[in-house]
Amino acid sequence: MTTTDIATAQLEQAQALDDTYIMHTYGRLPVEFVSGHGAQLVDTEGKVYLDFLAGIGCASLGHADPVVAHTIKEQLDRVWQVGNYYYVEHRGELARALSDLLSTVTDEAGHAVSSTGTTWKTFFANSGAEANEGALKVARRWGERNLGGASGIISARQSFHGRTLATLAATGQDVFHQSFGPFPDGFSSVPLNDIEALESAVAAGGACAVMLECVQGEGGVWPAETDYLQAVRDLCDQHGLALVIDEVQTGFFRCGAPFSFQLAGIEPDVVSMAKGIASGFPMGAVAARAELADLMVPGDHGSTFGGNALAAAAGLATVNELISRDMGEHVISTGTHLAQRLAALPHVTEVRGRGLMRGIQLDVPIANELVSEGLGAGLVLNHIGDSILRFLPPLVVTEEQIDTMAERLEKLIARLA
Ligand SMILES: Cc1ncc(COP(=O)(O)O)c(C=O)c1O
Repeated sequence: MTTTDIATAQLEQAQALDDTYIMHTYGRLPVEFVSGHGAQLVDTEGKVYLDFLAGIGCASLGHADPVVAHTIKEQLDRVWQVGNYYYVEHRGELARALSDLLSTVTDEAGHAVSSTGTTWKTFFANSGAEANEGALKVARRWGERNLGGASGIISARQSFHGRTLATLAATGQDVFHQSFGPFPDGFSSVPLNDIEALESAVAAGGACAVMLECVQGEGGVWPAETDYLQAVRDLCDQHGLALVIDEVQTGFFRCGAPFSFQLAGIEPDVVSMAKGIASGFPMGAVAARAELADLMVPGDHGSTFGGNALAAAAGLATVNELISRDMGEHVISTGTHLAQRLAALPHVTEVRGRGLMRGIQLDVPIANELVSEGLGAGLVLNHIGDSILRFLPPLVVTEEQIDTMAERLEKLIARLA
């Protein structure tokens, strides 16, 4: 058997196991990645790919970052899981680092300029959906204590907040509401960037919070406008509502600033996070300003695994590395380069997003084929629907890698359009 035969057999075995033993909740592409480094992935045949998806926005420092890997290995040899009845090494330091990052004030490009001085308190979970569940509970506690029991959550159309029942209810896309009901009550959605629609929804009464992504990721990479976000902040202040920002996809320098809300010069009340927080080690987090966070008391919320020693070690190492490598500056410059290269591609009518979170609108419905044919060209790409490609490379991606991807993609578009 040649090495290619062995690799093919390995992939076929993986496919057979998946077909028989895995729930088919995802359509799968015919490749198994067995190693990675930076923005590169390697498959069973040893073929190298440029990764512009980063494990769906998670491998912020690139694949198998040596510093994070070393930290996890060191922790692995000591203790992994003791439960949240006890103090856990790294957890408090990570929460302090998150508080510092969340209170950063940036300019419109994302460069840090000062601090708000706010103290943020964090609850650690294991995923983005769980982080949002925590955010919803904090928001409803706020409504219970300060707004006469108001419990309504207003989100945006085309948003995505997760796959649990409450986060699906908060997700403003009808396609997710066609099965699995009944969903929890009290959720409604309004069009993004339409402040009058939001004002009417708030005026109708019963809301305790507005929940938004500053750049909608799964919905197709649709940014909220700066003026809109500022007006939403003012509206929430006028009515005493909590402003919940979902930074699951946009956080941890993905958009240049530590968090995308900072690009609009606003400060939310509650922020959910996950994906890039621990370079791909499963972790989620919800942080709230102390005024809201302190309304949560023992027994109100919990998670067996949330913030365990391994995850906290991975998270702290990731956040420290992102800061010490000045990742925000790197994302601002490579993100601009990526946007320019994408805008120059044929059949691209619009480039959306910020930093290294970009989407392109194509005037031909070939996004699906580009993703599958991209594998042949050594590219890991992602599509949303028929005519949007989304780019979420590891934040360490270089300009040269972006150039190579753009050259290969241009040829693919020319062939398939
Ligand atoms: C903005 C946003 N919120 C929440 C989630 C859900 O995160 P998870 O899949 O980790 O539960 C996602 C996932 O893509 C997301 O993009």
